[in-house]
Amino acid sequence: MKIDVRFDPFELDELELRGKNIIVIDVLRSSTTIAIALSNGAREIIPVESIENAVKISGSLFGDVTLRGGERNGKMIQGFNLGNSPLEYTEATVKGKSIIFCTTNGSVAMYRSRFAQNLGVGSFVNISRVIEFIKEVGSDFLLICAGRANAFSNFSLEDTVCAGMIVRSLAGGKGSTLELTDSAMAAQSLHKSYGRSLLKMMKHTEHGRYLTEIGFLEDIKIAASIDTYPVLPVFIGNVIKLRRDEVRHGENESPKAGS
Ligand code: MLT
Repeated sequence: MKIDVRFDPFELDELELRGKNIIVIDVLRSSTTIAIALSNGAREIIPVESIENAVKISGSLFGDVTLRGGERNGKMIQGFNLGNSPLEYTEATVKGKSIIFCTTNGSVAMYRSRFAQNLGVGSFVNISRVIEFIKEVGSDFLLICAGRANAFSNFSLEDTVCAGMIVRSLAGGKGSTLELTDSAMAAQSLHKSYGRSLLKMMKHTEHGRYLTEIGFLEDIKIAASIDTYPVLPVFIGNVIKLRRDEVRHGENESPKAGS
């Protein structure tokens, strides 16, 4: 099994991702919020690339079972029902609802990966579930860090440390047969440096500092908690739902997981 890591979603080419096995990681905050929304009974998450698309899609869906969630500059988009704070996606608010989801980085990376063979949504709150899924699929995986759109680089430390934790867990101990690309090895070593205190790390990252400045410190504490929402959001058709038994293998690969 070969593991590769991408640090910049904006360099992604949809066709290049077709048929790949992918985990999209957006610790602050899209992946965390999606795991919590689906854990709280949301029916599905519909990731979109732009606000225009969100408005267009929601126009064709029933108002009372559909919500619009998302952010720009970390704050709720005007005219939307929810922002991107996991604290807003309570059971009372989201149970049975379809959520059209539009964020700066996370929903874009998920949308651009929609032609994947297997596509999962990963963060620290569901990391063991993600690792299990990768082992079950048992073939090459690409870990896409949603990053942080800004002028200079889209690199995000918290997403890369999360990818590094997945790589380290898959690599396990000595004698691992896992093949790692340079970016996967870099992510692994960043987890070695920062993995012991995730909250401290996230309070000091660019996006962590920004979210704290605009009043979302509680979101960072939630995002830094490991396995608090042990669910696996996966792409099924055009939407993200909780995985029931959706591992799909290429023809020439081993039989279906758990079969
Ligand atoms: C994103 O997708 O860009 C982030 O999740 C933004 C945020 O919520 O701060």
